[in-house]
Amino acid sequence: QLEIEANLIPKPRRQQNRAIEDYSQASPPEFANAVDTDPDLPQNRAWGRAILNRMADSKLGEDLVASHEVTSQKQLNDVITSATKAGATWQDLPLQTRSQVLIRIGDHLAKNRARLIEVMGSETGKTIDRADPEVSEGIDFARYYGQQCLELVNIIGATPHPVGLTVVTPPWNFPMAIPTGSITSALAAGSPVIVKPAPQAQRTVAVIVQAIWDALDEFDLPHEIVTYVIADEHSVGSNLVTDTRAERVILTGGYETAKLFTELRPEMPLFGETSGKNAIIVTPSADLDLAVADVVNSAFSHAGQKCSAASLVILVGQTARSKRFHRQLLDAVNSLIVDYPTNPQAQMGPVIEPPGEKLTRGLTKLENGQRWHLQPKLLDDTGRLYSPGIRSGIQPGSEYHMTEYFGPVLGVMAAPTLQAAIDYVNAVPYGLTSGIHSLDPEEIALWTDQVVAGNLYINRGITGAIVRRQPFGGWKRSSIGPGAKAGGPNYLLALTDWADAAATV
Ligand code: ALA
Repeated sequence: QLEIEANLIPKPRRQQNRAIEDYSQASPPEFANAVDTDPDLPQNRAWGRAILNRMADSKLGEDLVASHEVTSQKQLNDVITSATKAGATWQDLPLQTRSQVLIRIGDHLAKNRARLIEVMGSETGKTIDRADPEVSEGIDFARYYGQQCLELVNIIGATPHPVGLTVVTPPWNFPMAIPTGSITSALAAGSPVIVKPAPQAQRTVAVIVQAIWDALDEFDLPHEIVTYVIADEHSVGSNLVTDTRAERVILTGGYETAKLFTELRPEMPLFGETSGKNAIIVTPSADLDLAVADVVNSAFSHAGQKCSAASLVILVGQTARSKRFHRQLLDAVNSLIVDYPTNPQAQMGPVIEPPGEKLTRGLTKLENGQRWHLQPKLLDDTGRLYSPGIRSGIQPGSEYHMTEYFGPVLGVMAAPTLQAAIDYVNAVPYGLTSGIHSLDPEEIALWTDQVVAGNLYINRGITGAIVRRQPFGGWKRSSIGPGAKAGGPNYLLALTDWADAAATV
């Protein structure tokens, strides 16, 4: 399998042209984003088909390592004790070694690209075209933070004081990139990590942690530097947070969970990336073909289950009456191939589980003045496979305007002016991603100046932030904590006790 991996020809994407990744090399000399697999090449397609065949055959439940299952408070206590002990070894390492380990973690994750895609698809329904770039993002995080921890010394002017135990609670929707980013940032800050995966995505985290252990083995370091716990009980996450040996929590999930953690340990630094209700504004000057493609991709990739997803498109002025735009949008959404990821043609997969009350409302109930441009339909008896939906006539202040549904439904709003559209965007309690499609520099300047969101995208889709190029994080209820953006230069600085370090210079 490794041989096949090494022969993969990556797709030159993200404006760079690196040659084939050579996994036998210890580390690239400078940071470069990992490249996705180019699906246009026959050998890559054969590789992809082999992954999907294994996915079809996989029997989830038989492959999960059970040794980390935590069923009692005593077991949890033991896990924390060994993580803290191993943490002392990690903290004492020279920064250069820490950096090398992190870069090797990136290399080991790269070797596991196929396995990660397979397990992500089996567990969460993520299609291969989404899972492959997600693996690249995870690799990027490990390598980027590996290099950043050396940069810290230059920024602070001293070796930063290492951080104690970090608890990581990642989500299921980015089961590879987000846990990897959170774990490796904490490691770069000198912290041991206990990760508690989302119950829906435990196996993906098991593969990530195994890759981390493979890197730790190369340096004769104890595995307990990174431990993952599997627990059915929700209380295990809370008990980890309330244990005073935990010094940081990195959470990606719902705003309510972040609030709960803050109430449990008000004094503890929490790095929370939470919910979003994100819009793309399309003005009359926009390139409509591009706008349609970006709206569809942002709204429906991974069945809309991204905190960054576009849940609203706001059409300014005459764009709202553009028959061409509406027809193209409808055609593009209608033609999406909806299926499980074992179908190589699938462009949109299932939702993670049968919708709860909120998403059911989003997929079925219209409010006053709304109508279905395209009504979502349940396609099979699992309760998970829905065709995508478009509802129009969204009124400012309506439930749909304000609510994050986390599923395959897009709302269309009309705004008389760009200023009104910006006001609609800013009226929601969240501020994660935001987009504009416009070819008018003055419109873009007005929007950039006024819109309140962490990640602003101009004439581009609003999902898929790229490490280092587009550090990712939110404002308002999309973030709890210092608000430093993941994959950017301030993240490690925020995680680290650098004030102490500077004081000791
Ligand atoms: N970082 C993820 C994205 O940008 C959530 O889509």
